[in-house]
Parts: sequence; C-alpha cells; structure tokens
Amino acid sequence: MDTIECIKTRRSVRSYINEKPGRGLIEQVVSAAAWAPSWKNTQIARYIAIEDRKLLDEIVERFVPSYNARIIQSAPLLFAVTMMTGRSGFERDGTPTTDRGDGWQMFDCGVACQTLCLAAHAMGLGTVIMGIFERKGLEQFLEVPEGQELVALVAAGYPDTTPAAPPRKDVSVLLTYR
Ligand SMILES: Cc1cc2nc3c(=O)[nH]c(=O)nc-3n(C[C@H](O)[C@H](O)[C@H](O)COP(=O)(O)O)c2cc1C
Repeated sequence: MDTIECIKTRRSVRSYINEKPGRGLIEQVVSAAAWAPSWKNTQIARYIAIEDRKLLDEIVERFVPSYNARIIQSAPLLFAVTMMTGRSGFERDGTPTTDRGDGWQMFDCGVACQTLCLAAHAMGLGTVIMGIFERKGLEQFLEVPEGQELVALVAAGYPDTTPAAPPRKDVSVLLTYR
C-alpha cells in the first residue's frame, strides 16, 4: 500500500472481528509510530496496550459512559495513549518556548496517534481514536505514571466492516495562498 492510499483509505473502525492482534504485530505498530516527528525529538507519547477482556469490560463500565462503550466492547485491543508532560514546547528550565504554552505536547500526541493509526492500517488493523471518556478516573485505574497524562484511547483490531468514508472538504476551502 503506498502512502497516499494508506492516508486516504484509513477509516475510523468501530466494529471488529473476535481475533486478538498478536504481540509481535502490536510491537511493529508501536515501533512504526515511534517515527512520528515531535518537538525537538522529545518523543513524549507512550502507549499502554490493554488486551484483557475483563479489564476492557471494567474500563467500559466505569469510565466510558458513551457510544464509545460499544466500540470498546467489540475491540480486542485498546491503546491508552499517554504523554510525558512539561517537555514538548518547553525549555529545560520549564519555561514555555512559545506563546502556545503547553499546546505543543498535545500537538505531538496527535501526530503520534495518527502515525500509529496509519501504521496499523498498513498492517491490516483498523483503529479509532476516542476522546470521550472519564480521563482522571481512568488515569488512576491504569496507574499512569507520575509526570504523564492520559490523552486518548485508540481501539484496534481486525475490522469486521469497511466503513464508508465521511466526506472531506475541498482543497478550495482548505487552502489559501498569500
Ligand atoms: C481527537 C479525536 C477524537 C475522536 N473521538 C472519537 C470518539 O470519542 N468516538 C468515535 O467514535 N470517534 C472519535 N473520533 C473519530 C472521528 O469521528 C473520525 O476521525 C472522523 O469522523 C472522520 O472519519 P474517519 O476517521 O473514518 O476518516 C475522534 C477523532 C479524533 C481525531
């Protein structure tokens, strides 16, 4: 699959077959995601791979009170994507380098998430990034280390459907020249 095809055919997959991706494949996906660009190559994104059904069910029951519950019930794998805080966008003494303040760390995490999703797609796995969950409680439950924050959940697995592509804005809307 070439890069443009990978970018254009990746979809948010919300329903999966009942087959766990192997550890080797999970590690290949994360190894590819490690090549995401980041602020001064700080590489602040971290991934917790949750495969245990009981754990996934408890996460749904306690921390995902939305339509995302059904996605996680279907998914054999869930990445909790965390970031090390206070590095990306900051000087060594802790002062923000730009007027974006702590915005760059979320930016880096987004870049890392998309790289993870594209790598997964290239390797035959579907994914969906999820932003709606009870963050503080889940952070504690997953024992996210001090100095890190939970940013997003990414469900993953072998797709059992090929979702239709939601429409995209035209270049004439997206692009201006000066
Ligand atoms: C930051 C972010 C948060 C998202 N949160 C959710 C979510 O909570 N639940 C969900 O089903 N999809 C979620 N999505 C997926 C978007 O709905 C999806 O990317 C968008 O509709 C475009 O569809 P596509 O990914 O198939 O191209 C999220 C995507 C992003 C980037």
